[in-house]
Amino acid sequence: MDFDLIVIGSGPGGYHAAIRAAQLGLKVACVEKGAVGGVCLNVGCIPTKALLHVAAELRGAKDASAFGVDFGTPKVDLAAVDRWKLDVVKKQTSGVGMLFKGNKVTLLEGEGRFTGKNTVEVAGKAYTAEKFVIATGSRPAAIPGFELDGDRIIDSTGALTIGASVPARLLVIGAGAIGLEFADVYSSFGSEVTVVEMLPQIAGAADADASKELAKALEKRGMRILTSTKVVSQKATAKGTEVTVEGQDGKREVITADRVLVAVGRRPNGAGLGLEAAGVQVDERGFVTVVNDHMQTNAPHVYAIGDVARAPLLAHKAMKEGIVAAEHAAGMPSAYDTVVPSVIYTEPELASVGMTEAEAKEAGFEVRVGRFPLSASGRASTLGVSGGLVKLIGDAKTDILLGFHMVGPNAGDIVSEAALAIEMGATLEDIALTQHPHPTISEAVMEAAEHAHGKAIHIANRRR
Ligand code: NAI
Repeated sequence: MDFDLIVIGSGPGGYHAAIRAAQLGLKVACVEKGAVGGVCLNVGCIPTKALLHVAAELRGAKDASAFGVDFGTPKVDLAAVDRWKLDVVKKQTSGVGMLFKGNKVTLLEGEGRFTGKNTVEVAGKAYTAEKFVIATGSRPAAIPGFELDGDRIIDSTGALTIGASVPARLLVIGAGAIGLEFADVYSSFGSEVTVVEMLPQIAGAADADASKELAKALEKRGMRILTSTKVVSQKATAKGTEVTVEGQDGKREVITADRVLVAVGRRPNGAGLGLEAAGVQVDERGFVTVVNDHMQTNAPHVYAIGDVARAPLLAHKAMKEGIVAAEHAAGMPSAYDTVVPSVIYTEPELASVGMTEAEAKEAGFEVRVGRFPLSASGRASTLGVSGGLVKLIGDAKTDILLGFHMVGPNAGDIVSEAALAIEMGATLEDIALTQHPHPTISEAVMEAAEHAHGKAIHIANRRR
C-alpha cells in the first residue's frame, strides 16, 4: 500500500482527519481538486466572517453618533475590501498547507476517484491505501428557473465579491445562515435588502423565540423579511430582476432587485467519486451513508465525515467527525457523541446548542424554561444594545440543561459555555451558582438560569 490512510477533500473535516491521523503515526495523503481548505476557508465561513467584520465596522461608525461621536460618512473602497478578504483567506489556507508539511501529510492535487476497493486515482495516477476518509463536502442547492449567471442571480460564492458597486436592492431567497449573513453584509454596505423564506420562521430549526427575536432585530435594521413566502419566477427587465413571490394566502407580489442571492441550502457531494468501486453506499439525497459512531460506512475501511456524510452541515461538526474517523482508523476506540452548537453570525448573533423548547417537549421532557432579556443587562446598555435574549431549557425533573438559545452580542462565543454545560451534564442550578464576571453579556446566561428557579435579580420572576 502507498499510504495507511487517504483522505479525499481538504476542507475542515478532511484536514482535521489528515492531520490527526498523521499525529498518530499513520502515513497519510490528502486529495484536493481545488484549493486547500475547502469551502469553509476559501468561499464559506472565513471570507463571510471577514466581510461581516467590515460590515460591523461600517455600522459601528454610523451608529457612533448615538454616543456623541461623528465619523462622517465612511468612504468604502470595495476593491480594497475584497483584497483584505482574500488576504485573510490566503493566510488561513496557507496555514493548512504548512500544517500538512509539518505533519508530513502528502497533498495529492487533482480529483480523486475510487477505481477499486483500496485504490483511488488522482490526476491519472493510482494510489493505494488501507483506509479512506471521504470528506468531499457539499455545494449550493439550486432553484429551477433561478439559474446563476454570476451577475443578476448569484449564490453564496458570487455574493462574496460585492463587485464594482453595492447593489441598491438585494433580494435574498432563503433565510438560513447563508441568506441572513449576506443580508447583514449587504444591508450594512447600503443595499436595501428583502429576504424571502418559504418556512413560517427565519433561521430554520432555531428555537421559535430566538428566531422571532432575530427577525425583530433585523427588521429594526431596515431589512424586509417575508416568511411563509416562496419565489415563483423571475425575469430580467430594464428596471432590474423582477421576482414574483407568493405568500401562504396565494397573494403574489413582484419584487424588483439588482441582485438575487439564492441561499436555499446545500447538497452533499457524494456522486462522481466512484464509490461503487469501493462498495460504499450513497443515499438518494447524495449523502454517503454512515453506519456507526466511528464514522464508518458500510465498507468498514472507508469513513465518511462532514457535509457529505450527514446534517448538520457545519464546519465544527465536520472537524470533530474527522478527528473521530482518524483516531478510529489508527486503532483508537473514538466515537462521535457530542452536541453541535450552531451560530448565525448576523448582528445580533443567534447561537444555540441542544434542544429547542419544542424539541424537548416532543421528546417527552417536562421542561423548565429560564429567560433573560438583554434589555435588562447592564453590559448590553453600555454597548447600546436594547434587544436580544437568553433562553435556557432544562429538564424539570432533574434540572439538567437540555438547550441554550441566545440572540445578542457574542452569542457565538457564549454558546460554548452552554455546550460544555450540556456535555458535563450541568444543571440550571450549576449555571446559576457559577459566578459570571460583571458587567458582561455572559451574565445573562447565569440570570436566565436563576430565572428558571424564580430567583433572577434584574427581572420579574414567575410565581412558583
Ligand atoms: P439552510 O438550509 O440553512 O437554509 C435555507 C433556507 O431556504 C431554509 O430556511 C429553506 O426553508 C429556505 N428555502 C428553500 N427553498 C426556498 C424557496 N424556493 N423559496 C424561499 N425559501 C426557500 O441553508 P443555507 O443558509 O443555504 O446554508 C447551507 C448550509 O450551510 C446550512 O446547513 C448551514 O447551516 C450551513 N452554513 C452555516 C453557517 C454558520 O454556521 N454560520 C454559515 C453558512 C452556512
